[in-house]
Order: sequence, then C-alpha cells, then structure tokens
Amino acid sequence: MVDLYQQGLRPLLFSVLRADPETVHRQLMRTCAQLDQRSHTRLTQELQKRLAATLGVQDPRLSQTLWGLSFANPMGLAAGFDKDGVATNIWPDFGFGFAEVGTVTFYAQSGNPRPRLFRLPQDQAALNRMGFNNQGAAQMAQRLKASQDRQTRTYPLGINLGKSKVTPLERAVEDYVGSFCLLQAWGDYFVVNVSSPNTPGLRTLQAVAQLEPILAGIQAENRNHKPILVKIAPDLAWEEIAAIVSLGKTHNLAGIIATNTTINRQGLKTQIIPATGNSPREEAGGISGVPVRSRATEVIRFIYQETQGQLPIIGVGGIFTAEDAWKN
Ligand SMILES: Cc1cc2nc3c(=O)[nH]c(=O)nc-3n(C[C@H](O)[C@H](O)[C@H](O)COP(=O)(O)O)c2cc1C
Repeated sequence: MVDLYQQGLRPLLFSVLRADPETVHRQLMRTCAQLDQRSHTRLTQELQKRLAATLGVQDPRLSQTLWGLSFANPMGLAAGFDKDGVATNIWPDFGFGFAEVGTVTFYAQSGNPRPRLFRLPQDQAALNRMGFNNQGAAQMAQRLKASQDRQTRTYPLGINLGKSKVTPLERAVEDYVGSFCLLQAWGDYFVVNVSSPNTPGLRTLQAVAQLEPILAGIQAENRNHKPILVKIAPDLAWEEIAAIVSLGKTHNLAGIIATNTTINRQGLKTQIIPATGNSPREEAGGISGVPVRSRATEVIRFIYQETQGQLPIIGVGGIFTAEDAWKN
C-alpha cells in the first residue's frame, strides 16, 4: 500500500498539483464529458454505479422538495465547473443532489487571457478571472436537448446566465432574456448572475434600478414558471442585499445564491503567486475557498433573518466538509 502511494499515487498527485489548474480542470471535464457521452455503455454504467456507491448519498433525511423539484440531498455543484453543460448526466454519481451549469452568455466568448486561474494553497483558496469563457446559449441548448434525448435527467439542473462581454451594460436585459429564451426548456431553475468580478461593470447590475428590468424581462418570457434566482457578491453592503431581497418580492424571485467570489484581499497569507510573481493584491479576479466562507455565511444569515426564513437560499463559499455546509 505504501509502495503504491509512494511510487504511483503520490507522484501523480504532485504532478497534478504542480500543473496549471485550468489545464487540470479541462482534462477532468474532458473525462467527465466522455463518461457522460458513453453513459449508455455497460462499462460506463458499471463505473457510474461504483462511483455512486462510493460517493453517492442516499438518506431520506437529506432529501427535500423545493419549487416542485426533488433534491436527493442539499449539496450541489456550483456554477463555473461545468460551464458548457457537457457532463450533466453524471453529477449525481459524484454525490451531488443538484448542479448548476454555466455561466453561459448569449454570445460564445473565450474569456480573459490565460493564465487566469491560480491556486493559493496557503489560504486553501483560488483566484480566478476566467471571464465567462463559454460556448454560448444556443450551443448549450442544443447540448442539453441531446443529453435529455439520450437519458432522462434524474435531478434538478440549474442554468446560470451571465451577460456577454460584447453587449454593453445598457443592453444587458436583451442579453439575459435572449439566453433565457433559448434555454428555458432545458433547465429546472435559472440563476441571474450579476456578481462575477470578471466582466467589466457586471456587478453594477446588482443595483435595483439595473436588476429590476432584467428580472421583469425574464419573468415576462417565463412561460413555464421556472424558478428564477439571483446570485450575489459577498462584497455588497447590507442595504444593497436588503434591496435585492425586497425587489425579489415584486418579481417573484425563487431564491438567492450567496455568494460568488470576493474581490476582498484582506487576511490572505499568500504573498506571491508563483505563476505571475505578483501578490494576490496586484492580480485582478475573485477569491474562492476558505477566505470567502465566513462572509458567505454572514450574508446567508442576513438574508435568512431579513426574510424570516421564507426565501430559499443556496449557500456557496468555502464548503469543504459537511460541518461547513451545516454552519449557520
Ligand atoms: C474557476 C472558477 C470559475 C467560476 N466560474 C463561475 C461562473 O462561471 N459563474 C458563477 O456564478 N460562479 C463562478 N464561480 C464561483 C463559484 O460558483 C462560487 O460561487 C465561488 O467559487 C465560491 O464557492 P467556493 O468557495 O466553494 O469555490 C467560479 C469559481 C471558480 C473558482
């Protein structure tokens, strides 16, 4: 066992840890997509069964019905991992009770120049400025349709919508509504992402005057009354969060996702990011992982109190263990 670890697994793990994190993510997604494509073959089905037996969670105490959807457990895959919805059939085998694909934008876009994703191991964190790299809403709609034709989905799938970089902020409504119209048949719930720090000006759309027409535009097209949520930044002030919550009442918001990555750099232990030679303070992007955890929990607590527990909240940020997820 020790030999296997020292001679096989350890060098492999270390080489993965040394490699560019985006390359590792891409390779992992390619494997997941291949598994997903072949989920009808006996070999893949056997592998999926084994994965599900090891990582899957089957406990009726963890299940719940929300928005008319059945969640087998409350742990979901956050947006940003399966940006193009290439592996939607396999996430429950990894133990997830739901998953959110995207962020998808109306127009396909390549995102920011690489490198744009950095590990901060001393902080158990990552810094990213991906910039919504994705293949666009029409491509995702086609892919999700094909995936549904292959296999009926057995869990709730969210689709996270963002604004295309080429679309000016004044035309954000058209962009979000355009993506929603293309995708509304293929998701169980939808997320208006106005909180990524990596699209210039996007977070200004969190202001009520900007957010209101986006929500109104989407709801006007929402033929099947799909749940619409808003994903917010941890860096908002309490009054701004309260304003979003109260706007939600007028526009039938189904919930809030709290939170996205933070632009706050306080308290980071990492001095220098080896890939750039700069300190995290000098690098644009959002921080995820442990540094965002306590602020995300505070924001969740605030929304819960503000709404007397009446508005569903999907909590995100620095969840490493079940205890982190339960913390309130
Ligand atoms: C590499 C990377 C890409 C991300 N991309 C998106 C995205 O496209 N849309 C989004 O809403 N959030 C995105 N996020 C934010 C996560 O969904 C999550 O809100 C944030 O990372 C905090 O959770 P965590 O600490 O569990 O990572 C991304 C995060 C990372 C690290």
